[in-house]
Amino acid sequence: MSKNICFIDGLEGVLKYREVDINELVKLPYDAVSYLLIRGRLPGEQELAEYSARLHAERRINKEVIDVIRMCNFNIDAMAALRTVISFISQFDPDLNDSSPEGNMRKAIRLIAIVPTIVATYYRMANGKEPLPPDPSLSHGANFLYMIKGSKPDPLDAEVMEKDFILSAEHELNASTFSSRVTASTMSDLYSAVVSGLCTLKGPLHGGARAEVMTMLDEVASPENAEKFVLEKISQREKIMGFGHRVYKTYDPRGVIFKQLSKKLAESKGDMHWYTTAEAVENVVVRELVEKRGKPIYPNVDFYSGVIYKYMEIPPQLATSIFAIGRVSGWIAHCFDQYERKKIIRPRAFMLDEC
Ligand code: SDX
Repeated sequence: MSKNICFIDGLEGVLKYREVDINELVKLPYDAVSYLLIRGRLPGEQELAEYSARLHAERRINKEVIDVIRMCNFNIDAMAALRTVISFISQFDPDLNDSSPEGNMRKAIRLIAIVPTIVATYYRMANGKEPLPPDPSLSHGANFLYMIKGSKPDPLDAEVMEKDFILSAEHELNASTFSSRVTASTMSDLYSAVVSGLCTLKGPLHGGARAEVMTMLDEVASPENAEKFVLEKISQREKIMGFGHRVYKTYDPRGVIFKQLSKKLAESKGDMHWYTTAEAVENVVVRELVEKRGKPIYPNVDFYSGVIYKYMEIPPQLATSIFAIGRVSGWIAHCFDQYERKKIIRPRAFMLDEC
């Protein structure tokens, strides 16, 4: 078992979950990465089969939950609906107050399994469609796309969605993981800790950036406009969404993979428009901020993932909740670690200047 949930080298642009490099992890199914994060090692073939079977069997949500989603005001984005429903659904979990490792593992599997179903159900009802039951035969990524679109996704879309969930799954003590961890450190239940993470991830400086990137790409509209758009943002000292990172002072290794995936999608769909527009924005930002001003502002995890959602016709309202679908495994891994420590997290105010 690797005690080290996540390793980041912000100068070299290296990311590992439990000592396995992200470039290796994206070759695996999400279920295997989720198992790795939570149990601390990769599953054997039989262990993965059993774990996937349990996850896929727990994807369904009951009628009461569907009725609550139907009552959600659909002007709120999917993250607000997700936060609401995870809170509501916790009352149905017989293990809610069972803080034993076995009880927590049962809750973990239910949470990882139902987050995509809640998001997809919300999305379809927000668009006047009836929800679709999950398909236990499909992977995490393929099942999510099936539930939102109503048809089996093409293999490349399913592959890209699966890799998105893996690339979003864990990132050490980012703001939302820290929130989850603080909640778990008080020995509060796992549902409450996940709700803390959801509330924090929602912010535009954190998980909300993906939706902002999609809106920004609409505004830029073409590669020819990138120069003017970026120079205006810089002159107004406005932050460019999808760029910069507190830890990475070089290219975010997840951004490298997302860029490759977005180019693969663009080529497969015979439409380079969004990819070339995004690349033009990247080239101006790097030239102006990195090369001219020496500021290490590179694309982060949210820039090319926003491009991918454009090609997969996923609306901005779903972007952050897709991040949450991947990240819930990381939050849970950190909560389990916190439950083992049995020690409340209580920083001092003077530390805030260093955060
Ligand atoms: C995520 O922590 C994690 O691991 C998070 C995450 C994860 O997996 O959980 O990686 C996910 O949240 C990625 C980040 C998504 N957010 C965005 O893309 C929003 C845009 N980015 C910025 O808000 C910013 O880069 C942050 C919040 C990501 C990081 O900010 P920092 O480290 O606090 O940097 P800063 O705000 O102190 O800025 C330092 C300088 C400033 O210039 P000066 O005042 O020194 O002249 O860099 C500039 C900033 O203006 N800068 C940017 C910029 N980001 C920083 N300038 C233009 N565009 C940007 N995006």
